[in-house]
Amino acid sequence: MAPNMHLAFVLGHGPSQHSIGAWAMPRAYRGFNYAQPAFWEHLARTLDRGCIDMLFFADMYGVYDVFEGKADAAVKYAIQFPLHDPAPLVPLITRSSTGLGVGISVSTTYVPPYHTARSMATLDHLSEGRVAWNVVASYGRNAAAQFNMTEELSKQERYARAEEYMQVCYKLWDSWEPDALVMDRDGMTFADPAKVHKIHHQGDYFQVEGPLCVAPGPQGWPVIIQAGGSGPGMAFAGRHAEVHFATSSSLAGMAEHRARIDASAGEAGRAPKDIRTIWASSIFVGETEAEAKAKDEALRAMVPPMGGLALMSGHFGVDFSTLPSDIPIEDTGIEETPGMQGVANMLLRDYHGQTLAEVARMYGNGMGGFRAIGTAAQVADKMEEAYDASGGHGFMFRCADLPGSVADVVDLLVPELQRRGRFRKAYEGETLRDRLLSD
Ligand SMILES: Cc1cc2nc3c(=O)[nH]c(=O)nc-3n(C[C@H](O)[C@H](O)[C@H](O)COP(=O)(O)O)c2cc1C
Repeated sequence: MAPNMHLAFVLGHGPSQHSIGAWAMPRAYRGFNYAQPAFWEHLARTLDRGCIDMLFFADMYGVYDVFEGKADAAVKYAIQFPLHDPAPLVPLITRSSTGLGVGISVSTTYVPPYHTARSMATLDHLSEGRVAWNVVASYGRNAAAQFNMTEELSKQERYARAEEYMQVCYKLWDSWEPDALVMDRDGMTFADPAKVHKIHHQGDYFQVEGPLCVAPGPQGWPVIIQAGGSGPGMAFAGRHAEVHFATSSSLAGMAEHRARIDASAGEAGRAPKDIRTIWASSIFVGETEAEAKAKDEALRAMVPPMGGLALMSGHFGVDFSTLPSDIPIEDTGIEETPGMQGVANMLLRDYHGQTLAEVARMYGNGMGGFRAIGTAAQVADKMEEAYDASGGHGFMFRCADLPGSVADVVDLLVPELQRRGRFRKAYEGETLRDRLLSD
């Protein structure tokens, strides 16, 4: 029997997601405020009803201010701005659901490792084992400028720092032996001092004494997600990722990406199956094909002309306002970017020959990746084809209007995948790791 797919949704903790302008669609946020609990509780219940693996929060620090050298477009069009802290949503969402996991992005460049290890261990308890950490090394000068720096570190240094960061976190999470927690009232012993250890980490970037001041949660440590696509990014994924969040707009690109992950896993002495690949996706599903196409067109119409360029400028560190809009994407200087190299590579491969203006229009409407539009059966056919051809394990959906576009997937697409035996009908296992790493 074909293995089950994994399904997740990617959002930011803000009004605006990966399609610029979706926040202003007629049915978006009706009766809800994105900044208040009722919205997230409603979303959690909807996703849980569909047995979805995970709600994943993309996150960054600062504002996109590369385009025209200012933040005006980002502020005016709400281009991933504002962006609230996703961590407090974890217990709120997991208390409103029964099996849904929550992934949050935290930066290895700007947040101290002790803080991340502590916060993730705390969230593992509060979510009862349903939290994941998207390990990001961050990009963008403005992010650096929020943290006492005038320039961002080189990518090489960000990844070197991230590597040591992971070692610190693992040591902290292991600083309690599994049976250290005794809780013996009669013996007046809460924890066994012989089983809680200082770590005495002395490295190039971090000096951390330990131990962690949180006892291990149900998962021990969060599920580790990673999305880097450059050479060092893939090598990092090979060493650390349990789930790799990847993007490709073509089946050939998906297969190539997955082959690189297999190779990275092998170089790190891990089995390919230890790393699950989930594809960034945009899905438009309707009762009829015409209805689905109308949803896609309605979203497209919302994207302001400058929006995609401003988002790309933020992601790749190039001020695209200075370039003619009719040059091909391969002439825009993104083959080596201080920003998201994996995404740039995808544009160069899958949109080769298209003009900057064409690519920007697409980018502002979901950033590319796997796309499927149609009835539930048509979308499920395309997903099965991509799943089988790519060697990946599932799909991470970007959203149009919220919460309606999420309900469309849960109510129309999920039952079709379940009918085909390609998606679970009930949550199995105890933790998010049990679910994400199962077949
Ligand atoms: C699908 C996808 C999602 C990403 N989400 C985030 C995010 O939420 N926050 C962030 O700081 N970086 C995010 N990134 C960036 C990566 O984590 C990575 O830091 C960046 O791509 C630079 O590394 P690279 O050059 O190895 O690709 C994402 C990348 C991809 C491909």
